[in-house]
Amino acid sequence: MSYPAEMKESIAKVEASRPARQHQAFPKLDPQEREDILRTYHPDYISGAFREIRVGPNKGDRAPHELANALEAEPLLIRDGFSLKKIVQQEPDAKCDVLVIGGGGAGASAALLAQENGAEVLISTKLRFGDANTMMAQGGIQAADKDNDSPALHYLDVMGGGAFACDPDLVEALVMDAPKVIAWLESLGVMFDKEPDGTMRTIHGGGTSRKRMHAARDYTGAEIMRVLRDEVRSRAGEPIPIRVWEFRPAVELLLDEKNRIAGAVLKDLDTSRLMIVHARAVIIASGGSGRLHYQGFPTTNHYGATGDGLVLAYRVGARLSFIDTMQYHPTGAAYPEQILGQLVTEKVRGLGAQVCNADGEQFVYPLETRDVEAAAFIRECTERSKGVVTSTGQMGVWLDAPLIDLLRGPGTIAAELPAMVRQFNRFGIDLAHEPILVYPTLHYQNGGVSIRPDAGTSIPGLFVAGEASGGIHGRNRLMGNSLLDICVFGRRAGMAAALLAKDIAPGNPHLAHLDEWEHLRREAGLEEGQASPILLPDYTRKTSLVLLRHPSIEEEVAGHFKSN
Ligand code: FUM
Repeated sequence: MSYPAEMKESIAKVEASRPARQHQAFPKLDPQEREDILRTYHPDYISGAFREIRVGPNKGDRAPHELANALEAEPLLIRDGFSLKKIVQQEPDAKCDVLVIGGGGAGASAALLAQENGAEVLISTKLRFGDANTMMAQGGIQAADKDNDSPALHYLDVMGGGAFACDPDLVEALVMDAPKVIAWLESLGVMFDKEPDGTMRTIHGGGTSRKRMHAARDYTGAEIMRVLRDEVRSRAGEPIPIRVWEFRPAVELLLDEKNRIAGAVLKDLDTSRLMIVHARAVIIASGGSGRLHYQGFPTTNHYGATGDGLVLAYRVGARLSFIDTMQYHPTGAAYPEQILGQLVTEKVRGLGAQVCNADGEQFVYPLETRDVEAAAFIRECTERSKGVVTSTGQMGVWLDAPLIDLLRGPGTIAAELPAMVRQFNRFGIDLAHEPILVYPTLHYQNGGVSIRPDAGTSIPGLFVAGEASGGIHGRNRLMGNSLLDICVFGRRAGMAAALLAKDIAPGNPHLAHLDEWEHLRREAGLEEGQASPILLPDYTRKTSLVLLRHPSIEEEVAGHFKSN
């Protein structure tokens, strides 16, 4: 398969405009234009896609319907008819100092630092260890470790990228730890791209004022996960080993009589048996919620990204922040349909690829922050009707990848983007010679459980790291700050949880908060129906992601663009 004839006509226009564009920098938008484009075209501003939460610590706040439904839902344990009293009387299947829920980069970093600080650690993960958004991250990890850069400049970029809504203390922790994290990862074995003189090769990401993106080709997340997972596994033989349980997601947190965290109830996916873990501290590192497919968008996320950590933390009383904002990565694959929504790394634009409409015209600076870039793509395809429409009705704009080799020399694409090359080669598309069709895809949960700089929450003994946490990135995360935050706050959570665990005498675990939760639900008039945590996405009875879209949202989207 290559491109069909009607798409080739449009590609010819992209090729025709390429020589002129090659030497033309498209102007950046000014702050007012950015604000206007976001308000008019970004999915976060489609009001019908959101509603008020009716119960719990964020009662009255806005969240996407899909997330609000999950947060307000009946607990799985109650829906499945378990006796809560019997569960807590059950002999624990394991006891540990620190239970880490989630087997991605944040969970692995947390486990390593907790173990180094003397804690007995158990990682429990829903799928396999490493099945996580970390594994799928491509473009890079940011750190200000070059002479022309500083954590202060990195700080300003993060704040600006997040619409100045980020928690300043969390951003300070992020940027100050960043160079240390790169050195730590390298010391463990991560093979970052280097210049011939041995210095780190760094490029720009959207919204960065300095080249501080460190990468391992275009599979940076897989490389980091490989090393962190190996490190955890290799500590299995140490005097205090790290245990790893796979296919055992947490379905509820346990509290003690002082309402401190006391462990969790897990579900063994092989046997459906509930398993009890008593722990002195718990770190939620269970990632994001792209598989809730907000507003019917396809996603870059891994199969297990169903927002479980938010649900568990919420039910024990933890507040969430920035849950009304999601990140739509501008360049999700829009063709062919088999890879709809999969990530086309921002590194492609970082290396020089431009974005063009169906007529081969550049219409936006390629490295605006992701929220603005995505909104510009949506405007081009909707209000301006200048997008390419495929035979299945998918809209998209061209990402003119061949420019990279023209700008940086032949072979650059093959050397820097091997995963992308392979991805598109499977469908007969040659990145070095043909543009690729892209459209925004659901990529990241900007918010999550509110944390402090030590990754602690308002619930004693509960820590949260990685995509499940909220506040670091405000209303929009910059590329490469997620691989960074999983390490920074994973490490901090591990350290703090291990220290806390030393001082805690275990209490009597209970699930009484679920009785209270059901009482609150009844008071709010909520009925039985959906149960959560969701654990696995439900793709039955749906033939296409487009059908996931709620009809009222479809109408509002159409009206929204018409009236603006
Ligand atoms: O585009 C990317 O490679 C994604 C990176 C990120 O989300 O940080």
